[in-house]
Amino acid sequence: MADLDGNIDSKDFGLNTPQTAHSFPVKGADQLDFGMRHRLARIFAGGERTVMLAFDHGYFQGPTSGLERVDLNIVPLAPYADALMATRGIVRSVIPAQTNTALVLRASGGPSILKELSNERIAMDMTDAVRIDASAVAVQVFVGGEHETQSIENMTRLVDAGLGAGIPVLGVTAVGKELTRDARYLGLATRIIAELGAQIVKTYYCEEGFQSVTKGCPVPVIMAGGKKLAALDALTMAYRAIDEGAAGVDMGRNIFQRQAPTAMIQAVRGVVHQGLSAAHAHELYRELSHGADD
Ligand code: R5P
Repeated sequence: MADLDGNIDSKDFGLNTPQTAHSFPVKGADQLDFGMRHRLARIFAGGERTVMLAFDHGYFQGPTSGLERVDLNIVPLAPYADALMATRGIVRSVIPAQTNTALVLRASGGPSILKELSNERIAMDMTDAVRIDASAVAVQVFVGGEHETQSIENMTRLVDAGLGAGIPVLGVTAVGKELTRDARYLGLATRIIAELGAQIVKTYYCEEGFQSVTKGCPVPVIMAGGKKLAALDALTMAYRAIDEGAAGVDMGRNIFQRQAPTAMIQAVRGVVHQGLSAAHAHELYRELSHGADD
């Protein structure tokens, strides 16, 4: 029989030390349940910032330039991203299950670019997000759009399901052609999305007053990339967004449509995680790409 006496004598309950309490670094997430925070911690790399790589464009516009072959063009970038934003179709068919990068699954859809884009529905059940081991699901919200209420209902239904499953919802401000991307509009849209329960909000950068958008939003605001800009301009936009309170970026075309996407995503990481200035990050891009000039 094992001698237990020594074990009992050697137990140390740290009688004079209170249990360690860890504060949670993601904005507005302190009071969420463990699973939700565990997933947010993956997206935010254990801290308060994230580099998400968006390549879900095919869900409404088919084979976008740069995404014709996700296996060739995107999979090699995955180790440099904190999270991959994609459809479940691409995740299941192309993304290696061995990836350590968090997954943010597109959960809304319906209309193609040939139709009214705001007419989306929920396009994925939360049980499937659980099955895929998603760290979050993403939904477009068309504040001011033709189907505004429907898109908000899509989001609130996903928030309810996400709270049940411990899966955060990323609400995306979808700006129609007729709406202006100014701080007033973006502040309205991001606040509505957060008030109605999304744990993360994605929105565009605006030159004037972006700080009022991030400050007025009680959960992390992630900067959307948008159409391809010159590398220095894209890095400048990312730098300013972070400087003005964004918790990270979710960029697609500004990374994967570049001459050297692997170099660009590392430059973006430099801005988001290491505080590099746009000029330094651009130097890094040029250096890693051996002189790419886009
Ligand atoms: C918009 O929110 C959609 O999810 C897009 O497919 C994607 O995120 C856009 O990325 P980017 O504008 O950076 O190419």
